[in-house]
Amino acid sequence: MKFPPNGIISLLDERLAFNLAESTNQDLVLNEIWDEEFSQALKNLKLEYGTSQGNEQLREKIGEKLKVDKSEIVITNGAAFGNFLAMLCLCAQKDEVITVQPNFPPTMDLIEGLGFKKVLVKLSFETEYRIDINKLFTQVTDKTSLILLVSPLNPTGTIHTKEEVLTISERLKKEYPNCHLLLDETYREATYGDNEVIPSFAGLRDNIITVSSLSKCHGTPGLRIGWLQSSNKALIEQVGIAKMNTVISNAVLDELVALQVLRKEAEIFKTRSRHSLAGLNLTKKWVEKNKALIRWVEPKAGALCCIKLKENRFAKDQVEEFYVLSKAMEIQIASGVWFGESKRYFRLGFGYLTIEKLELTLDQLSEILNKITQN
Ligand SMILES: Cc1ncc(COP(=O)(O)O)c(C=O)c1O
Repeated sequence: MKFPPNGIISLLDERLAFNLAESTNQDLVLNEIWDEEFSQALKNLKLEYGTSQGNEQLREKIGEKLKVDKSEIVITNGAAFGNFLAMLCLCAQKDEVITVQPNFPPTMDLIEGLGFKKVLVKLSFETEYRIDINKLFTQVTDKTSLILLVSPLNPTGTIHTKEEVLTISERLKKEYPNCHLLLDETYREATYGDNEVIPSFAGLRDNIITVSSLSKCHGTPGLRIGWLQSSNKALIEQVGIAKMNTVISNAVLDELVALQVLRKEAEIFKTRSRHSLAGLNLTKKWVEKNKALIRWVEPKAGALCCIKLKENRFAKDQVEEFYVLSKAMEIQIASGVWFGESKRYFRLGFGYLTIEKLELTLDQLSEILNKITQN
């Protein structure tokens, strides 16, 4: 089997009434970005093939965000396809790819799915999922062609600092010049309230490649628009060719809508960052109220975080009961198992539901936690 089954597929195929499992911000409705100019552009759109590198205006807009030239960008079908193309183009058979665990499951499973050797560096809840660079380098060999880091990380919302990324990039350049560093920045712009958006690692060093998308921070995962950025011209050309050989191009309709999303980005971010802040504050209060039973690692960005059911309060069968009771109450929970953690951990998404519904759902979850531990 090339791709092992993973429960995360239920996020696409099963939608319970109280969804705490989602990692996205509130879904955008086309009406939010509709205007006369957009309406005309849609009516007159020719449904032709797109270009291999992707819509030029869209690349220009993304380039402005990342402070790089549009020639460094290839539009992809979400960040997922950016990761796919990067791995496909940079790695040869028998190469090793390193990434962290816990992580977005397809990122980990893609490595073996494409036939490369997967090397996972375990990050721990107890050290707030921080990376130990020396430990990371004990895993790097002459066969490692790619290190894939995610910042902010799914499922934790924790980030890598600029210093960490520079240290890794410079050590690679010196010790393993054939190895690239890929930064998945899918959650980078999902801030809280008036917090500044975290700067991109794009353009920082020439062995760094970045990938991101409009899925999480703009609320448009169904658009399937993302990008891969690199200052390496040969790589960008190869990625464009690989894209043409696999999906030919992006859908021109998606690209046009994406362009409008970026034109309206300031307004989209304003409502969503305010919403995320309210969700974060509610979650913080909920963790405090239940602190005898649970712990969390506070996220730095992204409307998601990791919760741990305390060992001294939840035996193994009580952890199982937590999932059974949540499901019975129509509460959707993202199990830690999906991400390479144990069931004792779960990802809590606080940006997807309305604040009223989130409050109600967290109250119900408190009742479940208390019921299980009082028995
Ligand atoms: C870290 C990370 N990268 C990539 C993706 C894929 O996102 P996209 O919808 O942009 O393909 C996800 C989705 O959850 C993710 O969490």
